[in-house]
Amino acid sequence: MTTIENFIKGIPKAELHLHIEGAFEPALMFEIAKRNNLQINYKSVEEIKKAYDFSNLQDFLDIYYEGAGVLIEEQDFYDVTWAYLEKMHSQNVLHVEIFFDPQTHTDRGIEFKTVVQGINAALRDSQNNFGMSTRLIMCFLRHLDEEAALKTLEQALDYKEIILAVGLDSSERGNPPSKFQRVFKKAAEEGFLTVAHAGEEGPSEYVWEALNLLNVSRVDHGNNSLDDEKLIQELLIRKMPLTVCPLSNLKLKVVDDLTNHPLGKMLKLGLLATINSDDPAYFGGYLNENYLELSKALNLSKEEITQLAKNSFIASFLDEEEKRQMIDKVEAFYLENH
Ligand code: ADE
Ligand code: ZN
Repeated sequence: MTTIENFIKGIPKAELHLHIEGAFEPALMFEIAKRNNLQINYKSVEEIKKAYDFSNLQDFLDIYYEGAGVLIEEQDFYDVTWAYLEKMHSQNVLHVEIFFDPQTHTDRGIEFKTVVQGINAALRDSQNNFGMSTRLIMCFLRHLDEEAALKTLEQALDYKEIILAVGLDSSERGNPPSKFQRVFKKAAEEGFLTVAHAGEEGPSEYVWEALNLLNVSRVDHGNNSLDDEKLIQELLIRKMPLTVCPLSNLKLKVVDDLTNHPLGKMLKLGLLATINSDDPAYFGGYLNENYLELSKALNLSKEEITQLAKNSFIASFLDEEEKRQMIDKVEAFYLENH
């Protein structure tokens, strides 16, 4: 009998909610800071890890933006991305959709193209070396104004071949999706797909706004949707994917304990929920650790884990034929290992 641990390790899956700046491990941070002649405020990897004790989203974001500040050269962006992709390959992840936050870098004087080219070179290598498929999603920082987002969108127009979608992240409370209605409309006119973080710390109204004002194809997090019966019905009707991040929710105190995590209820309601890692270097676990910790806390069955793996492909931006092939692989794995 395959143990739950080995079942999770082996099952083919996709990750759809991953901030590349959040996959920046402390050891690599030291290495890159050193070669760029920059100082970090911590003496050791252990000291950094100790600082990763957050009471809310903002608390985390302050440290996360600081960490990203040592990324300067194209090679730095390549190295962070490549380290993440290698890890994903080791976890039987066949497809990833990665967020990046260009404003975190361009506001420090780093060129947009340095960021995109560094990340994209690693994405290409993962296709060539591992056969892993990838998509890139550019997020606007919602604590900044819409003008800044519009300027960022302008910069992305030369990279339509590389950037598939736009998203919305950073400090949610007080920064509703409605603030970015014009830039999302323009992005859609330019052919980008759209997603947005909503209902992580913000209320269910923000999820409604993401659906109705930003026309999103997916909701990132979406936890607080469960407060609103009508919204649940709407998400079901639209077959709207939710990219849920269990260990992130625990570390940022969106949930007090994984045993109270809403994903169990989402699955029972038939919502298209997926498991993701969000910022694995900061939250203590990559994709398989998120599956495992949540499965233990909610006592998920192999059938439920299989559904989550299938959902990850159904909710992806792969085309229908690619999705079918991936789902066939998940089903074949289940039949051999349940
Ligand atoms: N940026 C990186 N991680 C994030 C999260 N969990 N919520 C909002 N913005 C983020
Ligand atoms: Zn996120």
